Amino acid sequence: MIKNTKKLKFPKGFLFGSATSAHQIEGHLNNDWARWEKIPGKISDGTTSELGADSWNKWREDIKLLKNTSQNAYRFSIEWSRIEPKEGFFDEGAIDHYDQIIDELIKNDITPMVTLFHFTCPLWLDDIGGVANRKFAKYFARFSGRMAKEFGDKVELWSVINEPSVYVNAGYIIGHWYPGKRNIIGGVKAFFHLVSAHKQAYSSMKKANPRVKVGIAMNMTAFEPVKKTWCNRALTRVAKWLVNEYSINLVRKNLDFLGINHYMSHKIQCKKPIMFDEGGAKSEYGWSVHPEGLYQVIMEARHWNLPVYITENGTADSSDRLRQTFIPDFLEKCSDAIADGADLRGYFYWSLIDNFEWASGYSMKFGLHTIDRKPRKSAEIYKKIIEQATGE
Ligand code: FCB
Repeated sequence: MIKNTKKLKFPKGFLFGSATSAHQIEGHLNNDWARWEKIPGKISDGTTSELGADSWNKWREDIKLLKNTSQNAYRFSIEWSRIEPKEGFFDEGAIDHYDQIIDELIKNDITPMVTLFHFTCPLWLDDIGGVANRKFAKYFARFSGRMAKEFGDKVELWSVINEPSVYVNAGYIIGHWYPGKRNIIGGVKAFFHLVSAHKQAYSSMKKANPRVKVGIAMNMTAFEPVKKTWCNRALTRVAKWLVNEYSINLVRKNLDFLGINHYMSHKIQCKKPIMFDEGGAKSEYGWSVHPEGLYQVIMEARHWNLPVYITENGTADSSDRLRQTFIPDFLEKCSDAIADGADLRGYFYWSLIDNFEWASGYSMKFGLHTIDRKPRKSAEIYKKIIEQATGE
């Protein structure tokens, strides 16, 4: 069923795009995650990122997918391990590779948004502890500054670090992601190294090119009390503060925009169980599909008084049935939030193409396109909405 999308209103210049990350689509990588994937049992379907969508070679085809679906923006990441394969050595060939991608995007009127840390570290840094090493921030700031120097005239929007709290939670506390640690103190330290890395990158990037707009992609979950008792409301407040607000407050002074990655909504109550999923449809990951949650987090983000981009929002759905209504429903909430005063500037669907979904390998299919680059019906639906909104 295709929803009537006529009433969706977006301001001129609104970015409609999709998002990917280097490790999940490029293949042929030699970084910390690539090393970890080879250990049996780490990836649930036994796959590795080695080949995958092969975007390192097929990036021109990816740009065609964006173009064919009328998207005017693309969020992707530059892989640190390619740019700086040895400490202090910056590979001109790799810099040139990303330069070509950026040029091709601009030639096609597609606005690039670039991420510099999307969960992976070069091996030389991993060998001294990766994010857990106190020097992480210093190394990251040097790399980020260099990227702003190389690309700052062409790329304005930088969602520099992706989901610091998700990375730390999955890798250092729950431990099902690289580096597989279960150590709360270590996790807290790693988290503050990422906060410091963001701040130092903000300075080094601005110094290299004052034109760049430095943002972050923060995970924001929607929380609602089951019934509005004082206890449920108080607990909901705590959850919002802990999961969403605390991290953003820490970097607020070093942000030109806020990127929100939104995937989940939870109900909260004081009685057991304290937190549970919103009812309704569920993705193959088991994540609730609750469009109102996106509206809620966008409206909450007005608190920071920054331009906002939805840097990720998507659903794992191999049948594509859910995604066909997911996209119009979530975009409708974006349009409602704008009508209600939110400074929302863009929406990036996760993901352009099926890819390596970290510990789940290739079993979770988030793509508008299959891994062999065939469009799903939802890609057509997204295209229609974009064309209606941009008057194409
Ligand atoms: C986000 C990650 C992204 C992808 C989606 C499904 O937390 O940023 O890389 O794995 O989830």
